Amino acid sequence: MTVADEDLRPYFQAARTGLTFNSPLGEQRVAALIDRVQPLSASSRALDLGCGTGELLLRLCAQHGLGGDGVDNQATDVTTARRTAADRGLAGQVTFHTADATVWDRPADIVVNIGASHIWGEGPAPALAALHRLTNPFGTLLFGEGVYETKPDAAVREGFGDLPDLAGLVRIATDAGFRVLHAATSTQGEWDDFESDWRAGIERLATPGARAFADRRREEYLDGYRGVVGFAWLVLTPA
Ligand SMILES: C[S@@+](CC[C@H](N)C(=O)[O-])C[C@H]1O[C@@H](n2cnc3c(N)ncnc32)[C@H](O)[C@@H]1O
Repeated sequence: MTVADEDLRPYFQAARTGLTFNSPLGEQRVAALIDRVQPLSASSRALDLGCGTGELLLRLCAQHGLGGDGVDNQATDVTTARRTAADRGLAGQVTFHTADATVWDRPADIVVNIGASHIWGEGPAPALAALHRLTNPFGTLLFGEGVYETKPDAAVREGFGDLPDLAGLVRIATDAGFRVLHAATSTQGEWDDFESDWRAGIERLATPGARAFADRRREEYLDGYRGVVGFAWLVLTPA
């Protein structure tokens, strides 16, 4: 059996076990981003659509003393998020919902969407249109999204599709009705850590199939999309 013939779901699940965030996000950046996202008032709420296991939302709500809602359609991630909230004494403050984020219609002062624009369709434009409707006036959207750092070759473009560069993503955000308060991309170190930690989760399965899959991903990264595919961090406010 080849790697391509196998059900890859167990590998993707294992990959998540070693990650704090399911994106190239280091500790320094997450702290700085949370500092940049200031609540409008003590009664502001935060909303994370596609929250995964909820780490960023929990840190944000803890630091700013806010209530929050996290929405993800993966029940296992929501269960993990609820358990973490309970462990940190935040269960009464932050609520996690197993739901399709496209049907969420309650706006918030602080909205978060990291690596999950695909919830609303292909590319960042439909996501930014939906997130604009869900961000209160004078509120803040923290948006994390894939971009090209340099021109992709045919193989990378086939794998990652038609991503904008950072300037293009900023134009899409302003076209959607946002002002841009902060725009940056993850460092190479954040990417290397993310890719390594992702593969390490798979390595721990220690099966021939898992090792072959991890080898293939490492080669695709190091020989292909490393330094080409980037990840952008935007802090936006409705214009
Ligand atoms: C790449 S992960 C990012 C998770 C998290 N934001 C982070 O950075 O760690 C994308 C997340 O979007 C969630 N997702 C995908 N489609 C969704 C939908 N229609 N409604 C809610 N969540 C969805 C997935 O379950 C997954 O947890």
